[in-house]
This record gives sequence, C-alpha cells and structure tokens, in this order.
Amino acid sequence: MTTLAKSEKDRVVIFDTTLRDGEQCPGATMTFEEKLDVAEMLDTMGVDIIEAGFPIASEGDFAAVQEIARRTKNAVVCGLSRASFKDIDRCAEAIKPAKRGRIHTFLSTSPVHMKYKLQKEPHEVFEMVVAQVTRARSHTDDVEWSAEDGTRTEHDFLCRCVEAAIKAGATTINIPDTVGYTVPEEYAALFKMVRERVPNADKAIFSAHTHDDLGMAVANALASVNAGVRQIECTINGIGERAGNASLEEVVMAMKVRGDIFPVWNNIEATMLTRASKLVSAATSFPVQYNKAIVGRNAFAHESGIHQDGMLKNAQTYEIMTPDSVGVSKTSLVMGKHSGRAAFRSKLKEMGYEIGDNQLEDAFNRFKALADRKKHVYDEDIEALVDEEIATAQDRIKLVSLTVIAGTMGPQSATATLDIDGKHQTVQSSGNGPVDAIFNCIKLVVPHQATLELYQVHAVTEGTDAQAEVSVRLSDQGRSVTSKGADPDTLVASAKAYLGALNKLQARGARTHAQHSAQ
Ligand code: KIV
Ligand code: ZN
Repeated sequence: MTTLAKSEKDRVVIFDTTLRDGEQCPGATMTFEEKLDVAEMLDTMGVDIIEAGFPIASEGDFAAVQEIARRTKNAVVCGLSRASFKDIDRCAEAIKPAKRGRIHTFLSTSPVHMKYKLQKEPHEVFEMVVAQVTRARSHTDDVEWSAEDGTRTEHDFLCRCVEAAIKAGATTINIPDTVGYTVPEEYAALFKMVRERVPNADKAIFSAHTHDDLGMAVANALASVNAGVRQIECTINGIGERAGNASLEEVVMAMKVRGDIFPVWNNIEATMLTRASKLVSAATSFPVQYNKAIVGRNAFAHESGIHQDGMLKNAQTYEIMTPDSVGVSKTSLVMGKHSGRAAFRSKLKEMGYEIGDNQLEDAFNRFKALADRKKHVYDEDIEALVDEEIATAQDRIKLVSLTVIAGTMGPQSATATLDIDGKHQTVQSSGNGPVDAIFNCIKLVVPHQATLELYQVHAVTEGTDAQAEVSVRLSDQGRSVTSKGADPDTLVASAKAYLGALNKLQARGARTHAQHSAQ
C-alpha cells in the first residue's frame, strides 16, 4: 500500500446516498428513527456528504432530511430535488438547519428521457437547467447538478448543459450512469471528454453516480477517478434502485488497498464499515449476501485445506486486507455463562456499542439467560441480542411469555402474555401452523389491519442450539416497516419480530397524527 502526502486535489469526496437512492429500492424503506441512526453512523465514519432524502417526496422524507440536517455534526447534508421550483424550495427548507447544506437538483438530458419522460425539446431542457441551478443557488452556495441518464446523452448537448450549469452556479457536476449501461473505459473517457471540452470545467468538482445493472457500478466509479472525478456517490451494502448503486465499502477499500492504482485519499474510517453494513442491513432487512466483498460473512473465511494451510503460515497468502481493517474483530474475549458485567461491558465496547446503564443491565441479564441455554455465545449472538435491545427500548408492546402447541396433529395453538404500557394480557388462539397461531394471538390483543409482507428466518451462528433471527415486514396503508427478533427458540423470535414491526407501525402512526394535528 502506498503512503500519500495528502493534498486537496487528490481527495475523493464520499457522497453517501443510502438514505435516498438506497431507500428508494423496493422493500428497503426505513423508519424515521432508523434513518437518524444510519445518518449518525455515516457522519461518525467520515462520510463527506449525506444525501438524506428527497424532501418533496413525502412528509416523512421531509421530516427525516430536516432532522438529519439538525443533528449532523460534520458532514454536509444534502437533499434531492427535481427541476421544479417547488421541489427546490422544499428541499432548501429541509436542509436549512444544517451546518452545511447542499441542494442536489437533476434533470434528464438523454434523447430517450427528453422525448418520452420529459416530453421536451433539448432547447427547453437547456433553459430548465439554467433555471433550476439559478433557483437552487438562490438558497445555498453548495449546489450539485446531475444530468440524469448522462451516459446515454449526446456529447455536444451534455457539454453545453454542464457548461451552463456551472455558469449558473453549480459547484458539483454529477454525470450519472442512471441505467447501469456504461463500462469502465467508456465512463472514464466520458469524464475526460467533458472536462477537456467544457471551458469552465475547472470551477466544479466532477462526480460519478453508478448503478449495478451489469455488475459494473464499483468498477465504473473507480475508473472515473483516474479521469479526474473527485466525488463518488455510493451506498452502504450497494443498496439502491434496481440492482443497486456502487457499494461504499467496496469503493473505499479498493482505493485503500490499491493506492498504487488510485493515488487518492478519502476521509472514511474503514474500521467502521462492518458495523455500518450491519446497521443498514438491520434497518432495511436486506440481508447481506454471504460472499459480498468486504462485508459478507464469508469475506474473510477460509474453508479449503490449501487456503487454511497458507493462512496459518502467513495471512498475506490469501488475504489482501486484514479483517480488522474493515472492523471484523477477532474475538479477544470469549464470553460464557461465567462472564461478569465488567467483561460484558468491555466486550460491547470492543464491538463498538455504547449503551446507557439501564440498557446495559437489561442486555446483560438477557446475555446471562442465553449463556445458560447455549454452550458457546459468539459475537454474533451478542450483536443480535444488543441490536434487539436497542431497537425495542421504546416499544409499548412487549412479549412476556409464550407457550405453543405444535406438531402433526393440528390445529396448532399458542398462548401469549403481552405487556402493553405496563399491563399484562393473556390470550389463546389457534392457527394454520404455530407461527400463524402466535400472530393470531397478537391480533387478538392488538387488533390491526396490517398485512404480513415478509417472514424470514436465519440462524445467527452454526449448530442446532443457534439463535434464530426472524425478520418480519408488515405493511399498512402504503407504509411498510421491518423488524427483527432473536432467540434460541424460533417461535419466540417470530413473536418478538412481529411485535417489533407492530410497535414501529404504531409509533409511526402516532407521529404522523401528531404532525398533522400540529399543522
Ligand atoms: O441514478 C440517477 O440518475 C439518480 C439521479 C437522481 C442522480 O439517482
Ligand atoms: Zn441513482
């Protein structure tokens, strides 16, 4: 790895759009609180610009962008807007509380988009570019303009629009590969051509925004760096429209590990990549594929005898980066039923958790209960347990106890005791299988219309005594939320996950109601 003297011209700005392009993909919806947690993580790990949402899209998006703008300490907070003045003004209002705010405004420039989507002639689009950037610039001096479907745009027209956008005040020019169509050489050549032909190109930072439809999002983004691009737009775990966006962790580690090819630097604290990946996966309930580069659970696992032998002799034989460089820590404290509070506290610290005394006490009691039932308590078990503790801390409805009768002789039945605002209620119900019986019990105590969109089980670790982690997605009146529950008993985990999702829906409903009454 090459050590570089850091100069501003070699800096690649990391623009994270997990909360906008990422959240836009079907099923990845996050709650208000989840968005705040993700934004805080992005800010802490050194992301330069957080695209927090699309404020005109909904009241919820507006509120999230505004709150993230209020809370973010270091990063620039950015909102997206189309070309209309109403969009741009709404976006400006949302980012107003930010220490540093950016308006990102975009317009399609390719023949196919102009003809069919916008139904406008190129000269009309050109005028709109000037107007949208001028309007955005009247609110802030940090304006990004994107030529949507830039990689399928006719070159002369693209150069004219870019020149006009910079003249109108755009400080960042993004040329997105909206449909994931380009290839690395072509994308790099496009930036080179624009930077050479546009006379005022030196007045703006050029940005790459890539999609993974042909599996080249990361490669395309990286190729553009050597053509002078100094901002990369990416998302944690590569989530995003359709096949997703360039994954932040891959972009960052490729530049870090191959500093000889990419003589640039960025501000990201790479040891936080794994935690960020887990947080986004938990918030969206999008599992991370096992063999995903950098953050997949197999990314540092060596199974074959030849590889294991090499690794034992020297880790560099099969590892181009160390697991701890991306935050996968090798266990230094092995936890079991004899571990005390102090060891548990220091384990959580080692894993990157900072929780208050009350939460720590609850998590510790649950850890002890788990250690009594399970021979080996792995880091993944503790992580599942603490994540659940944090996620359910504010829940109104909690599971107290559950008994299920299952087996070949149906109907299966369940008896559940729930705690609602401190009052216990016990009900019994049957169903088409034990999970259905449990969910029917919950419906008896908390009647609701939400429909179950996803029910997924996976084992947190290996072995028949492993904890089950259940993900549940509920949807109600166009809103959908996801939640997870973990327990060595799959049915208990199912009940917890369902209640978690129900709590989120209710909290969201209460907040929307409060917002409406305040208007
Ligand atoms: O893919 C795209 O073109 C976008 C723009 C809004 C930047 O996401
Ligand atoms: Zn996009």
